Amino acid sequence: MKKPQKKAINNWVLITGASSGIGEATAKALAAKGYSLVLTARRVERLKKLSATCFNLGAPHVHTAKCDVKNKTDIKKVLSDLKKQKISVKIVINNAGLAKGIGSFQESDSADNDEMIDTNVKGLLNITRELLPEVIKNRGHIVNLGSVAGRLVYEGGTVYCATKFAVRAISDALRLDLKGTGVRVTNIEPGMVNTEFSLVRLGNQQKADAVYSDMMPLSANDIAESILWCVGQPAHVNISELVIYPTDQASVGHVVRGGRSIKNLK
Ligand SMILES: NC(=O)c1ccc[n+]([C@@H]2O[C@H](COP(=O)([O-])OP(=O)(O)OC[C@H]3O[C@@H](n4cnc5c(N)ncnc54)[C@H](OP(=O)(O)O)[C@@H]3O)[C@@H](O)[C@H]2O)c1
Repeated sequence: MKKPQKKAINNWVLITGASSGIGEATAKALAAKGYSLVLTARRVERLKKLSATCFNLGAPHVHTAKCDVKNKTDIKKVLSDLKKQKISVKIVINNAGLAKGIGSFQESDSADNDEMIDTNVKGLLNITRELLPEVIKNRGHIVNLGSVAGRLVYEGGTVYCATKFAVRAISDALRLDLKGTGVRVTNIEPGMVNTEFSLVRLGNQQKADAVYSDMMPLSANDIAESILWCVGQPAHVNISELVIYPTDQASVGHVVRGGRSIKNLK
């Protein structure tokens, strides 16, 4: 007897860097709304746990895959596995990203600089380029994780800021290239979010905790809810960019410590 053909589902969301922080929170928020998910990152053991959580939250299908966005072979492998399994991606959340170091550029480590550019810019471009044919076919959505560091620069942020300025340029230019295809492009630009970001950047938990001391940063859930809102808009509405600061951060480099938002005011 002929094997029944697996029916393609065209409503999948692929998230890069789903193993932590904003990517993980976005996976859970989308799962609770019934989206099918492709969860990717380098730490697959974390993805396995997240996959079970997403099922419990209501995701009909969850596929996990190891993908270092710096590695083109990893990307090709993910794409070929998706094809084999008839998984057609409609929405891409380009979330994988990192900062390394906070010193001046003249003292920076060139391997750190390469990693930021290769992950935040080239990784995002490579994933997007590979997935765009499916996304166009499905009249889907590209959501990029930019940053307020892509709007304003700060000391010690030469390379990280450059990568996030690039994400903003890529998002704006992609919107032009994709006009008429029905594909939406959104650039999410958060201020300070308490995730593993500062630990990865500074390499030390104590230093990372100090970044958020005596102020109320955004949580990964805050950003996940914003992403959910953007992708849930009707097809004719494109939220092109969303800048989200914690109340205690007036702008890049302007953080209030001990302010009213962390006090139990009557
Ligand atoms: N936290 C903030 O204050 C903040 C503010 C503005 C924008 N952002 C942006 O938000 C995004 C998510 O950051 P986060 O705050 O959620 O930090 P996080 O908790 O450190 O999460 C970063 C995620 O990126 C993944 N990743 C890093 N390098 C990767 C690579 N080469 N290939 C695949 N995945 C990779 C990590 O997974 P694996 O290590 O398992 O691969 C992890 O899941 C980043 O693009 C960041 O620049 C963060």
